[in-house]
Amino acid sequence: MTFEIQKNQFIKDGKPIKLISGAVHYFRNMRGTWDDIFEKMVACGCNCVETYCAWNLHEKIKDEFRFDGNLNIREFLRTAAKHGLMAIVRPGPYICSEWEFGGLPWWLQNEEEMEIRCFNPKYIEYFDRYLDHLFAEIRPELCTNGGNVIMAQCENEYGSYGDDKKYLNYLRDGYRARGIDVPLFTSDGGECGMVLDGTIDGCLSTLNFGSKVEENFRFHDEIYPDVPKMCMEMWDGWFDAWGDEYHHTTSVEDYTKTVRDMLKRGSLNMYMFIGGTNFGFMNGANHYETFTPDVTSYDYDAILTECGDITPKYLALREIFAQYAEKPLPEIPKNREKKAYGRFELTESAGLLENLEKMSKAIHTEVPKCMEAYGFGFGYISYRTTLNRDYDDAVISFESIGDRAQIYINDTCAGTVYINASLECKFSAKKGDTLTVLCENMGRTNYGSKMMRKKGIAGRCLIDGKIHFGWDVTPLPMENLDAISFEKKITDAKAAFYHGKFSVDVVADTFLKLDGFSKGFVEINGFNIGRFWEIGPQKTLYVPSSLLKPGENDIMVFESDGRRGEPTVEFVDKPDLGKTK
Ligand code: GLA
Repeated sequence: MTFEIQKNQFIKDGKPIKLISGAVHYFRNMRGTWDDIFEKMVACGCNCVETYCAWNLHEKIKDEFRFDGNLNIREFLRTAAKHGLMAIVRPGPYICSEWEFGGLPWWLQNEEEMEIRCFNPKYIEYFDRYLDHLFAEIRPELCTNGGNVIMAQCENEYGSYGDDKKYLNYLRDGYRARGIDVPLFTSDGGECGMVLDGTIDGCLSTLNFGSKVEENFRFHDEIYPDVPKMCMEMWDGWFDAWGDEYHHTTSVEDYTKTVRDMLKRGSLNMYMFIGGTNFGFMNGANHYETFTPDVTSYDYDAILTECGDITPKYLALREIFAQYAEKPLPEIPKNREKKAYGRFELTESAGLLENLEKMSKAIHTEVPKCMEAYGFGFGYISYRTTLNRDYDDAVISFESIGDRAQIYINDTCAGTVYINASLECKFSAKKGDTLTVLCENMGRTNYGSKMMRKKGIAGRCLIDGKIHFGWDVTPLPMENLDAISFEKKITDAKAAFYHGKFSVDVVADTFLKLDGFSKGFVEINGFNIGRFWEIGPQKTLYVPSSLLKPGENDIMVFESDGRRGEPTVEFVDKPDLGKTK
């Protein structure tokens, strides 16, 4: 296949082509579902798939590169090719995408003199090394090497972040030097300042928006009159943050209008075709005035639902796209099976505080430092100290907290501090009592100028205005919970693990309801399916069938805020992502 840009057109194998593309992130969808997703794309009338690449999964641990399982981008691209789809890659290295730290690895924050997303020597050194590895996977799949990859993006909406052209030029040259010889592009919002700061020579400028095609292209048309017009992110819905009143949606009518208008103009990439899931602790957050971490589901009200079901938007778009197809579209594949396995009791439990020492070795420190300083980037962290005198109505205060913490005196919770609420907590205690600050990292900011804010106790922690010295810090990345001692009874501890078994006859997709719980995360057969929080809007967690096995399965719920009811869970056959407007 050949693919190139000639004046204002994309040319495939010598003929003009309109790209009808959809975003599918390999790292948000189980490998076993890729075939099904691509089949549905083809039946909808798409000719292309687009994906970001997640540096922070490929190099979760500094210097250790992984491209296996769900991270096998090469297999993802080949599977798309097998279905006849072209592919667009957006390697970043920054990707935004409501994804932890915008796709950057947290450990970059530990580098001295680090400044992300600019021509900073340290930043460059690390992303150069990452691109060496990533592009070794992608290069064989370029259309110039017989594969299906037709274009690659440099950075992401850089025009909304900064103005370092030297950095953007360096990045583009790095793509070229590593043999990425397909057309390169940038994508930005349509405002004049965004286009001016985000674009560079040698990269096609594309735009991102969800409506108002003509308005968005007004400035672009002035400065780039003679290029193919492409909406690289045509937003078909939106993401949800914890505490949002409702699950964000976009109507079929509004979206199909934007799609029709854009097709008159050129090409489009639907963001998202399927959103998928922020498994584990990989959700991102926004941080303007307040910090707003995103929910586990990245359903996005996309063209397919989080679990891959056909939606009314899909059906409406199929009618539009059919008019552009060379031959009749294949039949729409069936939705995958869903099962309601019912309600199960979690029969074992273990209080967190009493298990701290078993979970990881405590580090003694004079004053508490941020999570990153202890060499890990995700989960929770406990800071514990023994008080050396009585305190009556004292106040513990934090300069900054990343992001939310409970203050315990011995086993009793005295209160909660939260980056969005109070950074102070009152307590009374006796000499010899233990004070524990149990802090949750709720996901790193993926957009804007506050991305570098640290997790855990970041900054001074004072008791009655003075520095308290002598703490034991326990990292709780929650990656290996084998050391916890579970007991066959239900604990009264506020922060606790609950464990149980459930049986499955036929393996299918299902959704987990956690009515008896408040806030935490869940592991199914050792896989972290993500966070839950009773404030919603998301009420159920998606459990992909590939995590289950016929017969007995394992479930572990971590609860930080105290149960709301019995420690039971229920597997239902429909998701509940919250009310819609
Ligand atoms: C921008 C970014 C995407 C995503 C969307 C919102 O366009 O480029 O990564 O964050 O906003 O969903």
